[in-house]
Order: sequence, then structure tokens, then C-alpha cells
Amino acid sequence: MYKILSKRTLGPQIREYIVEAPEIARVAKSGQFIVLRLHERGERVPLTIVDADTRTGGVTIVVQEVGKSTREMGDHFAAGDDILDFVGPLGVPSEIENYGTVICVGGGLGIAPLYPITRDLKKAGNTVIGIIGARNKDLLFYIDQMDSVCDELIVMTDDGSNGNKGFVSNPLHDIIASDREVNRVWAIGPGIMMKVACNVTREFSVPTVVSLNSIMIDGTGMCGGCRVEVGGEAKFACVDGPEFDGHKVNFDLLMSRQRFYHEEESCALERYLASEKKEEGALV
Ligand SMILES: Cc1cc2nc3c(=O)[nH]c(=O)nc-3n(C[C@H](O)[C@H](O)[C@H](O)COP(=O)(O)OP(=O)(O)OC[C@H]3O[C@@H](n4cnc5c(N)ncnc54)[C@H](O)[C@@H]3O)c2cc1C
Ligand code: FES
Repeated sequence: MYKILSKRTLGPQIREYIVEAPEIARVAKSGQFIVLRLHERGERVPLTIVDADTRTGGVTIVVQEVGKSTREMGDHFAAGDDILDFVGPLGVPSEIENYGTVICVGGGLGIAPLYPITRDLKKAGNTVIGIIGARNKDLLFYIDQMDSVCDELIVMTDDGSNGNKGFVSNPLHDIIASDREVNRVWAIGPGIMMKVACNVTREFSVPTVVSLNSIMIDGTGMCGGCRVEVGGEAKFACVDGPEFDGHKVNFDLLMSRQRFYHEEESCALERYLASEKKEEGALV
């Protein structure tokens, strides 16, 4: 059992949890993830390790409530509660080096996995430009954290509600197309955002790392669920990634495989919401 040490809301249906898992906290590196299972009947949920504190044994995760399991976690799990399984760290850590000038681009929930990578790139001596964005200003989070590890931070919203309208790929293009030398880009977010960012950087031959959130089941390379195509070859995101050379990733295949269980996921969410309503009714 893994105790939830703290829980806080970062935005609408976005929550940060710190979970006591000292063995993971001791060895976790940026770019890695855990797989949790809330209870005996729970499904496995892969989540990025956002921070790890060796002193308290706390592992920080940020969860966007998009379906049955993540909703259930938000609705029923609080500080002091236990999570049944919390396995990790999994995946290959990010390749942190001093590249020179690096742009770290995060879209939506992608800001959470981007933060530890940005922090470590800064620690390694890079000049770091951060670009983060979301659909609107309510969905933005970790602005202060990102600001503290970037030399420069640009914050965008699709609808302009924070005063800066546009996609994260707009300033990415502008910076790379200017005279500034950019040696590497990290881009993490929805498939379409990473695809567009890679199209921008490919044009200027700037190496680009992406983190692929394909559907994972076991997280150990055994089931094949997380198969992605990179440079024409099949790779398993859980053991070969989740980070890959973005210029080689088949994003269309990634996005279509992410929708593979859409019907089953919708049914599971509907059933969960109906049972929650019934419980609420019984309590009234
Ligand atoms: C390496 C990795 C790191 C991730 N890090 C984070 C993170 O830090 N924070 C966060 O909120 N989310 C993260 N995700 C996505 C998260 O795992 C899914 O949102 C979650 O599993 C959805 O479960 P659900 O039952 O709530 O929703 P469902 O209704 O089951 O699914 C909603 C959508 O989530 C995706 N999804 C569903 N099941 C899985 C699965 N087993 N593996 C991957 N994606 C799935 C699918 O695209 C699906 O359409 C990560 C995924 C991967 C692979
Ligand atoms: S999740 Fe099963 S092979 Fe990667």
C-alpha cells in the first residue's frame, strides 16, 4: 500500500498528489513514470514522475481526470488514503546534457512531465527557454515552477484568455526562425501538438525529443499495447521510451491507436458516473 501524503487541485479536473514511495523516490529520474492501480478492481494507469523527494520519500504525480480511473481517483482518493499498487520507476530517463540552448515546449497536461526535464536541463547548464500553453488560462498550471527553472518563459492560451493568444508552436517557430541558435527542443503534450512542433523543428533541422503517451497495460514490454512506430520500426514506448526522436515518430498511428478503446472507455465512464449518481441518491 502507498499512502497519499497530499492532494491539491491545480485546475479544473487537474490534481497533484504526493505519494509515499521511498524506494521509487530514491532512484527516479526525469522522464520516467510509474504505473498505479487504485484497488483490486482498478485498471493500470501510467503517470509521469513529476518530482521525487528522497528525504520524505514522496513522489509527485499530476493527474488529469479524463476517464473512469482518473475520475475515481479525484473523487475518492485524498491525503491519508492508500493506493494498492504504485510501480516504478519505469521507462528510459531523459538524456540530460549541456546542449547549449534548449527550448522546452509543454501543451496542456504535458506541462507536468516537462517540468522535471526543464529543471534538470537548467541544472546541467543549458540556457532554457520554456513555452507552455493550454486551451484557456484556467487550465494553465505550474507557471511559477516553470518560471523558476527557465531563463525565459512564454505562456500561451488557444483563446487568448491570459493575453497571449495562439498555439505553443507559434513562438517556437518565431524563436527558431530568428537568429537565435537553438540546439535542441523537448516537446510534450497532445499528439497533435507534438506533431506540429516537430514539423516546425524539422524545417530548421533542430533535434527534437517527444514523450509518447501511448496506451500502456503492463508497462514492462510484455503486452505490446504501447507499440509505436519510430523511424519505420516498431518500438514499445514503456521500455524503449517514452522519449523518442520526434522527427522519426509516426504521430498519425500514435493518435489512432490512442483512440482504439474509445467505446469501451466511454462505457466505463458512463457506468461509473451512473453508479456515483445512484450512491448520491441513496445518501439524500
Ligand atoms: C508514459 C505515460 C505517462 C503519462 N503521464 C501522465 C501524467 O503525468 N498525467 C496524466 O494525467 N496522464 C498521464 N498519462 C495518460 C494517463 O495514463 C491516461 O490519461 C489514463 O490512463 C486514463 O485513464 P482513465 O481510465 O481515467 O481514462 P480512459 O477513459 O480509460 O481513457 C481516456 C484516454 O486516456 C488514454 N488512456 C487510457 N488508458 C490508458 C493507459 N492504460 N495508458 C495510457 N493512456 C491511456 C487514452 O488516450 C484514452 O482515450 C500518461 C500516459 C503514459 C503512457
Ligand atoms: S505497456 Fe505492454 S508492452 Fe508497453
